[in-house]
Amino acid sequence: MPKRIVILSGAGLSAESGLGTFRDKDGLWTKYDLSEVATPEGFAMDPAKVHGFYNARRANCLEAQPNAAHEALSQLQAAWGADLTLVTQNVDDLLERAGAREVIHMHGELTSALCASCGHRWTAPRAMDPADPCPACAQPATRPDIVWFGEIPYHMEAIETALQMAELFVSIGTSGEVYPAAGFVQEARIVGIPTLELNLEPSSGSGLFTDARYGPATEIVPAWVAELLEGSSGSS
Ligand code: APR
Repeated sequence: MPKRIVILSGAGLSAESGLGTFRDKDGLWTKYDLSEVATPEGFAMDPAKVHGFYNARRANCLEAQPNAAHEALSQLQAAWGADLTLVTQNVDDLLERAGAREVIHMHGELTSALCASCGHRWTAPRAMDPADPCPACAQPATRPDIVWFGEIPYHMEAIETALQMAELFVSIGTSGEVYPAAGFVQEARIVGIPTLELNLEPSSGSGLFTDARYGPATEIVPAWVAELLEGSSGSS
């Protein structure tokens, strides 16, 4: 029974909550030019367009509900405690709303706002506007607290430490297209631990995993968590 587990999740975890994904058919990047809405250059060019993009995603997120996969991961965390590290590329708060705590959002969070001038963070309002003054420095320099392409993901040190200590690495609902997250499975292989992919279909990194289960997250994640909890209650 693995004690220390690191789980990385992606948009596939929240897809069945209606939040969609990026690279699937009719995914976000088939509708928007990511260079215009998910890069610092795009924000500098047209901050109102970028705030509009994230305001719409924030509204979708507020309307969405956690699904059975979010609930199962929260249940697993309740049993595993600090031995489970939940890393997500997702910017929604559905894991938190399912009861999970200390979720590591390496690409930021829709519920957080950031001042590009002084670095202050605060709880994002439902809708943000380029003219909004920063509550700390009053500069009209607010931006979504989202890590854009070309920026450094958050909490990388904590993630690396967790990966080095892990006994099992699990990837849920991610295409394995975006680094550094896509490289975590390689790091786990170097550490020499088992790696499990739980996804709708084989991702581009599927060949790197020692085990895999395919299907909708709301089916395969609760089933996997149930087996883990069963096994842990059985073992002394
Ligand atoms: N259940 C499980 N997996 C699913 C489901 C589902 N219901 N629906 C889709 N998937 C899988 C897809 O097969 C795909 O492998 O989820 C993955 C979604 O891949 P992407 O759309 O590329 O999303 P993600 O991997 O999270 O993207 C990573 O890219 O654009 C950036 O910052 C953004 O965090 C994002 C990062």
